[in-house]
Amino acid sequence: MNSIPTYCAQIPEAGLRAALRQDRPEIIGKISASGLKGRGGAGFPTAVKWNFAAAAQAERKFIICNADEGEPGTFKDRVILMEHPDLVFEGMTIAGKAVGAREGILFLRGEYTYLRSALEETLAKRRRCNLLGKTILGSPLEFDIRIFIGAGAYICGEETALIECLEGFRGEPRNRPPFPVNTGYLGYPSVVNNVETLAWAACILANGPQWFKSVGTEKSTGRKIFSISGDCRRPGVYEFPLGITVAQLLQEVDGADARAVQIGGASGQCVPARDFARTIAFEDIPTGGSVIVFGPQRDMLDMLHNFLEFFTDESCGQCAPCRLGNAKLLEGVEMLQAGSCSMAYLKELCGLGETMQVASKCGLGQSSPSAFLSVVEHFREEIMGRTLNRRG
Ligand SMILES: Cc1cc2nc3c(=O)[nH]c(=O)nc-3n(C[C@H](O)[C@H](O)[C@H](O)COP(=O)(O)O)c2cc1C
Ligand code: SF4
Repeated sequence: MNSIPTYCAQIPEAGLRAALRQDRPEIIGKISASGLKGRGGAGFPTAVKWNFAAAAQAERKFIICNADEGEPGTFKDRVILMEHPDLVFEGMTIAGKAVGAREGILFLRGEYTYLRSALEETLAKRRRCNLLGKTILGSPLEFDIRIFIGAGAYICGEETALIECLEGFRGEPRNRPPFPVNTGYLGYPSVVNNVETLAWAACILANGPQWFKSVGTEKSTGRKIFSISGDCRRPGVYEFPLGITVAQLLQEVDGADARAVQIGGASGQCVPARDFARTIAFEDIPTGGSVIVFGPQRDMLDMLHNFLEFFTDESCGQCAPCRLGNAKLLEGVEMLQAGSCSMAYLKELCGLGETMQVASKCGLGQSSPSAFLSVVEHFREEIMGRTLNRRG
């Protein structure tokens, strides 16, 4: 089966060995043919990102592995780093060869500091085995990796805020363009990829694009690792082909009585039971892997309150739509809970959410209203119920 554990049980470093026999366009061509899209959430084609960085002319380039994993409900990158650290470092080394970078940085979220010593040991072992350093496996390739520990801010998962943080500044998103592939860490071309994306890149180099894309959909090839939590009997980390329906996924985790599922974390969308035939894929419901199941007893307003408190705390405050908008939506949820939100004001709040989606500077403010908007769309009668009951 084309899964990460199966790959890891095969010949070690097969992906890196294959990459060493190929030139840069061939490696990027394999990733392109596989259709691999970023597993961090946005689904940007990995080969396109690598190609931009490969084309940039610079003395130094960087491969940055984004292990910030701050999205509520996401914990799959931690499991990949614990169970398959070599695979992630192998993927980073392959990316280094593909774009011409000699330096790699693993940006590890502060809460995962306890993983550091095991990861440092893996890096030391790789240096001893000539899988990092100069003349890797006897080839001209030079590449090494260091670990940087984040300071616990959700916004530092956003790639430009992550780079600011790496440079020692406050983690605040930059204006784009320029994009990190041209002007990234210290102003040099930098590829920022999710942990899982880099792991899959190594598997693809070893087994070929066809192996990867034999499952999934045309626009969302391959398998994906999911972090599944909430009201189901078998929560945990799963690997499923993209294109799986929400109903099939719930079947697998024994959560078939769910009333709704939050897909894509707090910044994702709330899918009601009547839409469980929809698919989890970039062209339908995209996700970085977080799936939170809501059972029959869950109060949707409690959930929204929790998410909006999170976004209000985590907004970096740089732009008004996000800084003020999240606080206003939170206030609106409290009014709904108290039964004091009129239909007209709810409409205004939805307009505010839509404005945030287009006017916020970065993905945090652009996506933080999604849960609010989808709950209003799918559970309007229920959330207005308290107001109507009070009037009745
Ligand atoms: C607020 C915010 C938080 C993010 N957090 C993460 C994260 O924890 N891990 C991650 O890989 N990408 C995160 N991203 C997406 C990154 O900016 C970037 O798109 C991603 O690391 C690119 O890797 P990929 O192409 O391999 O998916 C976040 C984006 C935003 C807007
Ligand atoms: S959208 Fe939010 S997190 Fe992003 S720059 Fe604006 S205030 Fe900061």
